[in-house]
Amino acid sequence: MPIDIAVVPVAGRGTRLLPLTKSQPKEMLPVGSKPVVQYVVEELARCGIHRLLFVTGPGKTAIENHFDIDSELIDHLRETGKEELLEDLAFEREDLQYFYTRQRRQLGLGHAVLCAEPVVDGQDFVVALGDSIIGLHAQSTVVRTMTELFETAAAAAVIAFEEVPPEEVVHYGIAQPKGRLDDVFELADLIEKPDVREAPSNLAVAARYVFSPAIFDYLRNTEPGKGGEIQLTDAIQALIHDGGRVMGVRLPPHQARFDIGNFESYFQAFIEFAMADPDYGERVKAFTRKLLSGGDEVE
Ligand code: UTP
Repeated sequence: MPIDIAVVPVAGRGTRLLPLTKSQPKEMLPVGSKPVVQYVVEELARCGIHRLLFVTGPGKTAIENHFDIDSELIDHLRETGKEELLEDLAFEREDLQYFYTRQRRQLGLGHAVLCAEPVVDGQDFVVALGDSIIGLHAQSTVVRTMTELFETAAAAAVIAFEEVPPEEVVHYGIAQPKGRLDDVFELADLIEKPDVREAPSNLAVAARYVFSPAIFDYLRNTEPGKGGEIQLTDAIQALIHDGGRVMGVRLPPHQARFDIGNFESYFQAFIEFAMADPDYGERVKAFTRKLLSGGDEVE
């Protein structure tokens, strides 16, 4: 059976975005006209996912509310003659089933994935980070490529990677490819936050994964690392060291990762999405050009 379930971890505290995230989930921050997590769900739906399991935590109920069908709002729009706005709520009625489980203590991404085990229940599954969009307006099909590769390569895991500038490898899990580096490659190892001189490549883990349920055993046996967190990369590394076949897929051109986890990349994502907005993009661009040409205050 094709993989049709995705785990979306959204329980992180988002401390790098304080004070913005003090009382609202970073996964609900707007990027252009939609919240981050709506793009994630639309991307997954396009890639053949029908069941979504959110791993949530304190202060994240806005995410559950966002995906509920709001019949009162629908009635209100109808009664007040604003039918055209109903189209913006079409995502509510996508052919998707939503499930929610709680990560009761924020012990890291690996631990959040482990919280999904009882629901995933022995099936192969996708993990899509709830704070990252792939492709402008989430027009990426990389998850479909990854689930297909997972089947054809009989892999234990498939991971998306993106190229990062050499000076940034120190912030990411970095691929050490086995043999030739193609758009699709096998991993010899995955190195967490290497020094730039020791980095085996500049390909960084990019927020989308496919796993067999074997990953749960590795997560259970992963010792907490920095900050007491259980790291997903440590579990993947152990899987590779045990002879598990782990494949990498490079994000295709024009399917970049937009990381909403820190201010710099969040601001960049917002600007790019707003400029590409079908209704307002041209006016935003004109405004930006005016700002840039007119003031010394904007470099
Ligand atoms: P991050 O690695 O950015 O961690 O999460 P974070 O805790 O949210 O952010 P900072 O470092 O405090 O700023 C990547 C994804 O994994 C989820 C987050 O919600 C985000 O979507 N996550 C992270 C969890 O679900 N649980 C965790 O314990 C950590």
